[in-house]
Amino acid sequence: MKVYIIGCGYVGLVTGACLAKLGHEVCGVDVDKRKIEMLKQGKAPFYEPGVEELLRAGIRKGKLFFRHGIDEVINNYDLAIIAVGTPEREKDGGPDLFYVSQTAKEIAQHVTKKEFFVVGKSTVPIGTTRRIEEFLRSNNPNTKFHVGSNPETLREGSAVQDFMKPDRIIIGGGKGVCDILERLYEKIDCPKIVTDVESAELIKLVANFMLAQRISTANMVARICDCTSANIESVMHGVGLDGRIGPSFLQPGVGFGGSCFPKDVKNILKIAEHYYLPKRLFDSVIQTNEDQIGWIIRKIEKTAGLTLRNLTIAVWGLSFKPETDDTREAPSKKIIRQLLEEKARVKVFDPIANVKNEFGEKITHCTDMYEAVKGAEILLVVTEWDCFRDADLSKVKELMETPKIVDGRNIFDSKKVRSLGFKYKSVGRP
Ligand code: NAD
Ligand code: UGA
Repeated sequence: MKVYIIGCGYVGLVTGACLAKLGHEVCGVDVDKRKIEMLKQGKAPFYEPGVEELLRAGIRKGKLFFRHGIDEVINNYDLAIIAVGTPEREKDGGPDLFYVSQTAKEIAQHVTKKEFFVVGKSTVPIGTTRRIEEFLRSNNPNTKFHVGSNPETLREGSAVQDFMKPDRIIIGGGKGVCDILERLYEKIDCPKIVTDVESAELIKLVANFMLAQRISTANMVARICDCTSANIESVMHGVGLDGRIGPSFLQPGVGFGGSCFPKDVKNILKIAEHYYLPKRLFDSVIQTNEDQIGWIIRKIEKTAGLTLRNLTIAVWGLSFKPETDDTREAPSKKIIRQLLEEKARVKVFDPIANVKNEFGEKITHCTDMYEAVKGAEILLVVTEWDCFRDADLSKVKELMETPKIVDGRNIFDSKKVRSLGFKYKSVGRP
C-alpha cells in the first residue's frame, strides 16, 4: 500500500519507518525543513532505539521517502495519516488543534483524486475526526473523502517494539476506512478494535488517563508509606498480584511527564467540563502529579537539613523517562526550576537528553555522571537510566562533598547504599 504520513515527529517517523519495514511504500512529509533534510540522509532527528536502523533500511530499499510540506504528490498515495502534534494550549490546558486544522486545509487544497482516505493518529478531543471529514467534504467537494481515527499507543523509548507488537490496534471509521486499515496492518498480529470514530478517539484518552491515574495512585500511596514506614514495593507488589489490577504502571517516583499523559488527562478533563460533568476525578490525577514535585523537594530539604541555599545538587537524568531524549513536560525541569528558586547550585547529567535551551548558564551541564556529583552535597536521581543503576557508588561517595542521595526512582537498594555510608531517601520506602 502507498501511505503518505503528515508529520515526522515521534509518531510519524516511527509509523513511517515501521510501515516501510512491513513492505508498504511510505512518504513522510513535515513542515520542518531541517528535519526533512536529516531524514533524507537517514538521520533520526531524535533518539529512539531502533528507529534510525529502520529509517536507513527503508530508504535503501526504496520504500521510504521524505518531502518538505504537503503538495500534489499526495495524489500518488492511497492513504494519508495525520501525525502532527496536538500540544497543550497555554491559555486553558486544552489540546491545541492548530496543526491538525492546518493539515486538513492543506489536504483539501492538494487532493484531486476522486476518492481519498485520511486517518488521524494524533491524539484529539472527541468529535475532531468527524469535523475533519465535514471540513474536507465541504472544502473539496470533487473528492469523496473517508476519514477515520487510528490513535497511536506507542511509548517513547520502546516505540518500534510497541508499533510492531501492540496490545491492540484501534480503528474508528466507516467500512472503507476499516477495510484499508485492516489491510495496512494485516502483518501485525494483534486484536483490531473496529468501532466508530468517537469511541476510537475516546479509547485513546481513557487509556492514557487510566495509566496516569495508576501512577498518581502509586505516588499518593508512596506518601502514605513515607509517613507510616510501610514499604511501597511490598504494597504495590501485593496489590498488583490481584489479577483484576495487574502490576504495570504502579511505580512511584517524581511524577509522570512527557508530551502525552499531562496533556491527555487535561484533554479528557476539558471534555467533561464541556458537557458540564464533574471533573474532580481528572483534576485529582493532575493535581497529585503536580504535588509530587513538592514532595520530592521536601525530601531534598529534609536530607539537606532545611535550606537548599548555596548547596550543590547533582541531578542524574533529564529526559521524562529512560531511552529517550525527550524532555517535554519532564519532571527534571520542574525540579530544577524549584531548586534554582531556592538558590541551590545545580549540576546535571543525562546520557542523551539536555536542557541547555531551557536553563543555559543558570546550571552546570556535565558530560559525565561522575563529574556531576563532584563536590555535590546531594545527588538526586530523576530518571532511571541503566547507567545510574550500575553506578560505582563508592566512587560517587568519594567525589561528593557529603554522601547524600535522594532517589526519585527507587533504583538503589536502600540497605546497600546506607551500608556504604550514604544518607539515603527514596520514594515510599523506609
Ligand atoms: P512531534 O511534535 O514530535 O511531531 C509532530 C510533527 O508534525 C513535527 O515534526 C511538526 O513539524 C510536524 N507538523 C506540524 N504541522 C505540520 C503540517 N502542517 N504538515 C506537516 N508536518 C507538520 O509530535 P509527536 O510526539 O509525534 O505526537 C504527534 C501526535 O501523536 C500528538 O497528538 C501526540 O499526542 C500523539 N501521540 C504521541 C506519542 C508519543 O509517544 N510522542 C504516542 C502516541 C500518540
Ligand atoms: C504513554 C503511554 O504509555 C503510551 O501508550 C501512549 O501512546 C503515549 O503515552 C502517548 O499517548 O503519547 P510515554 O509517555 O511515551 O507513553 O511513556 P510511559 O512509559 O507511559 O511513561 C510516561 C511517564 O510516566 C514517564 O514520565 C514515566 O516515568 C512515568 N511512569 C510510568 C511512572 O512514573 N510510573 C510508572 O509506573 C510508569
